[in-house]
Amino acid sequence: MIDKDRLQKQSGIIGTSNGIDQVLEMICQVSPVDISVLITGESGTGKEVVAKAIHRSSKRNNDSLVVVNCGAIPEGIIESELFGHKKGSFTGASEDRKGYFEEANKGTIFLDEIGETPLETQVKLLRVLESGEFMRVGEAKTRRTDVRVIAATNKNLADLVKKGQFRQDLYFRLKTVNINIPPLRDRVEDIGPFIERFALEFTRSNDILYRGFMPDAIRVMKKYDWPGNVRELKHFVEKVLVLEKGERITAQIVEKELMDYMPLSPLNNPSLPVVVQNTTERAEIDLILRQLFMLKQDTELIQKILVNSSHPSAGDVAYPDANAIENGIPIPQKSMEIVEDGYRFIRDDAIGDMLIKDLEKEAIKRTLKFFNNNRRKTARSLGMSERTLYRKIEEFGLEPKIKRN
Ligand SMILES: Nc1ncnc2c1ncn2[C@@H]1O[C@H](COP(=O)(O)OP(=O)(O)OP(=O)(O)O)[C@@H](O)[C@H]1O
Ligand SMILES: [Mg+2]
Repeated sequence: MIDKDRLQKQSGIIGTSNGIDQVLEMICQVSPVDISVLITGESGTGKEVVAKAIHRSSKRNNDSLVVVNCGAIPEGIIESELFGHKKGSFTGASEDRKGYFEEANKGTIFLDEIGETPLETQVKLLRVLESGEFMRVGEAKTRRTDVRVIAATNKNLADLVKKGQFRQDLYFRLKTVNINIPPLRDRVEDIGPFIERFALEFTRSNDILYRGFMPDAIRVMKKYDWPGNVRELKHFVEKVLVLEKGERITAQIVEKELMDYMPLSPLNNPSLPVVVQNTTERAEIDLILRQLFMLKQDTELIQKILVNSSHPSAGDVAYPDANAIENGIPIPQKSMEIVEDGYRFIRDDAIGDMLIKDLEKEAIKRTLKFFNNNRRKTARSLGMSERTLYRKIEEFGLEPKIKRN
């Protein structure tokens, strides 16, 4: 059995907290045994990192790890993607094709976002989990595969079972070995080491001078909630380092950047840190600075509204920061939000001659463009599932044109 120190070195998993220690312990225990594992945890907590670590320290590590994002595959083709299909079994099936379960033979398959799998597919997953047996779509022949299954979800599967959206038998089968990764706010001890590692990696690969984060800055960061967990922290560190090139990162810089995430209501945001100083005088100064900062934000907002209402074309609207959205922080202005005064997305003369479908199409098209066709980010920012987004992209014909020579 691999020991925790070696595992940490080999996998690059950072952390010294009790929470991460238990995760490492579990990985060490389950890796060598050919058993399926369910990894749970909020978005950005490191589920994929853990899945990779299990595969790497298992005896299957010389064979492949096939990663499947079940949430991103359209319902209509998920079974053919997972289990393969026979030529002619449906329109477009121009030749026999292996599915991911066959590709992963002798190795590991990582079923990410398992909670998004359609119910009919879940029966087939249970079968392959229990006996290794499956059938390609359109074929009557039973095939066998030798794979280890690792599944992950940020959903509460027990709730999905109650709602009838997830099969109880599959849930019971999966949850026998469950590695739960705690959210970052419950293991603040790891924040320091994370900052150090992410900052070093980023400054090294981008040739930026690195002078370090001040202890006070780290203290401020430990007070923030990090709803997007480790991913959000990583992007935050990178953003601050880019904005403050070569500077030592102070508590003031961190506070300002954290506030910029929620420019409209910094004081109403319970997840924002408040630096608690020991003297009341200092606390008062902080309060005044905060008020000044809010005033500055208000002025900027008013300026923006004035500028936009004098150029009422949709293109002038200030878009939210892509990183902030990906980091899971609610953004007050969504790209297609219709603001009563000011931005005038919809011209008055268009009213009465407009379909919700057109608005939807417009919103999807522009959000896709904003996120460089990244569907995951687009779906997240529009508050729809990736699968719905796929369907809408097809329905509206928004597929980017691929140039063929
Ligand atoms: N313990 C850790 N050590 C090092 N890096 C980590 C750790 N946890 C997370 N990360 C980093 O944080 C980012 C998010 O991790 P990962 O993609 O594994 O999260 P996730 O739980 O799968 O998120 P999602 O639910 O959104 O898919 C990655 O860049 C990953 O490298
Ligand atoms: Mg993931």
